[in-house]
Amino acid sequence: MKKSGVDSTVKGIGYGKVILCGEHFVVHGNPAIAAGISNSAAVWAEEAQANEISTESRVVPEISNRAITAILNAMGIKKKYKVFMESDLPTFGGLGSSAAFSVALVRYMSHLHKMSLNDEQVNRFAYEGEKVFHGNPSGIDNAMATYGGVLMFTKGKSYSDNVIDRFKLGLPLHLVVGMTGKFGTTAKMVEAVKEFKEADEEEFGQLLDEARELCHNGKAALEKGKLDVLGQVMNQNQSLLSEIGVSIEDNDKINKAALDAGALGAKLTGGGGGGCCIALAKDEEHAKQIIKSIKKAGYEAFYTTVR
Ligand code: MEV
Repeated sequence: MKKSGVDSTVKGIGYGKVILCGEHFVVHGNPAIAAGISNSAAVWAEEAQANEISTESRVVPEISNRAITAILNAMGIKKKYKVFMESDLPTFGGLGSSAAFSVALVRYMSHLHKMSLNDEQVNRFAYEGEKVFHGNPSGIDNAMATYGGVLMFTKGKSYSDNVIDRFKLGLPLHLVVGMTGKFGTTAKMVEAVKEFKEADEEEFGQLLDEARELCHNGKAALEKGKLDVLGQVMNQNQSLLSEIGVSIEDNDKINKAALDAGALGAKLTGGGGGGCCIALAKDEEHAKQIIKSIKKAGYEAFYTTVR
C-alpha cells in the first residue's frame, strides 16, 4: 500500500487494551489487570527534517512529536521521521491508544534499523513515549500493548522491578465498550487521584486494600472462567473509582444502561473523567442488547472480545 508516496507495506503494530480491574490504584503500587483488544495502531515513517506525526486520529501533535523524539532518542536513532499512524482505537478514551502508538513506532523503527529487539526492549523504549504522553504512568499500558493477552501488572520501585504476570483466561470475554465522547486526560486524572490521596492518606490506604483484594479475586475469576464473579468485581471496582472521583456522570449513565440490559458487570476503564466504559456480556448476542441500551442512552458503543 502506498500513502503520501511512502512505502507503507511494512508497518509496526501496537494493540489497545482495557483495564478490567485496578486502574489508578496501580500507579500507587497495587496490582491491576489488563487485557488486549483487537483494535490497534499501525505505524510507518519516512525520513524528514523534524519528527512529526501525520494521522487522521485526534491527537495533540506537539505531544506526539515529543513522544516520537523521546522514543527515537532512547533507541539511539539520530535520523528524524514523519510518522504516519492509522488506528481504529479511539484516542483519549482510556483504551491505551498512546501506548499502542508507542509500541507500534518502536516495532517499526526496530525493523527499519534492523535492531531485532525482544519484547522486553520494545516495552522499555515504548515507556519513554508513554512518559511524554502521561507524565508518570505506571507502565501497564505499554506492557499490555507489547505483550497482548491478559496480564496482572504491578509497578515496582524502579522500572526494572515492575512485575508482569501473564495468565490464561478460563473463558473468552465478550465486552462492550461504551464511549462517553468526553476526552479524559489520563495525566490530569492521575494528578487528581494523587491530590485525593494526599488529602486523606488513611482513607486512600483502605481503598488500596479493597482494590488489591478485588484484583486478586478478579484474576481467580478470569482463570476459572467465572464470569458472574468477574462482573461483581467490575461493579465493586467501579464503586472505588467513583469514590476517588474519576467517574463522571457520563460514565455512570453508560454503566447503568449496560447493567439495565443485564450486563454481568460494568465500569469505566483507564483514566476515566469520561473516556470509555466496559460492560461484560454473556455472549455476542447479549452484547448486541447492551450496545442497543447504551445507544438508547445517547452514547456510541462497540463489541470486542478478549481471548
Ligand atoms: C491508564 O490506562 C491507567 C491508569 O492507571 C494510569 C497508569 O496506570 O499509568 C489510570
